[in-house]
Amino acid sequence: MGLEVIDVEVYRYAGLMSAPVRDWMTLRLNAPVDSPHEPIGTRAPRASDVEGFANLMWNAYRGTVDDGGESLEDARGEASKTLDGGYGAIDWEASCVVERGGELAAATIVVRDATKWATGEAFIAFSMTSPKWKRQGLARAGMVRALGVLSRRGEPRAHLVVTRENRPAVALYESLGFERIDLKQCVPWKGTT
Ligand SMILES: CC(C)(COP(=O)(O)OP(=O)(O)OC[C@H]1O[C@@H](n2cnc3c(N)ncnc32)[C@H](O)[C@@H]1OP(=O)(O)O)[C@@H](O)C(=O)NCCC(=O)NCCS
Repeated sequence: MGLEVIDVEVYRYAGLMSAPVRDWMTLRLNAPVDSPHEPIGTRAPRASDVEGFANLMWNAYRGTVDDGGESLEDARGEASKTLDGGYGAIDWEASCVVERGGELAAATIVVRDATKWATGEAFIAFSMTSPKWKRQGLARAGMVRALGVLSRRGEPRAHLVVTRENRPAVALYESLGFERIDLKQCVPWKGTT
């Protein structure tokens, strides 16, 4: 993910504006976060959720600005990598999935930041909702739950990366108080480009 961010900056400076712009967003956890009502079916993710997670991912992203034409098989690879900690060790307490009718309707996955910038802080690796469950408050509930766990634990910040044109996601994150930041000014620069 971090690599994508720096690549996008390079493309922009090169004048290739068709590359998707991704922003790093950060929320300072300096105020208590209220506990939300937990939607029915909310539970901790499990390592055995790979297939359900892959189906959710494939359905949630299909037709969105982040749809790169990936197949269900690609989604399986991503699901496996995520649940194996390939995007950073999963924070099993702060993460959750929502199960409805035997399938995963939504997921919020928090990891230890393992991007190129390695802040070591909480990083929202995935927030996603299956199309038939969208706009019912599942993503917001998952995010508020995660931020509540992190703030009660005394964590200073939560981070994420989002495609600027992803209006639903940006609206959600901004409504929660996340702000775009220029990473180069905030953490030691570990980029190689
Ligand atoms: C972004 C996403 C997770 C939102 O899931 P959701 O469960 O439908 O979201 P919620 O119902 O909890 O809505 C929370 C807020 O998101 C924003 N939002 C959600 N869908 C929106 C849309 N279609 N247009 C504008 N804002 C939207 C709103 O601010 C909404 O708050 P409101 O209902 O009080 O207006 C979902 O659209 C999704 O899975 N998208 C594909 C995956 C993705 O892009 N994930 C984010 C990657 S960084």
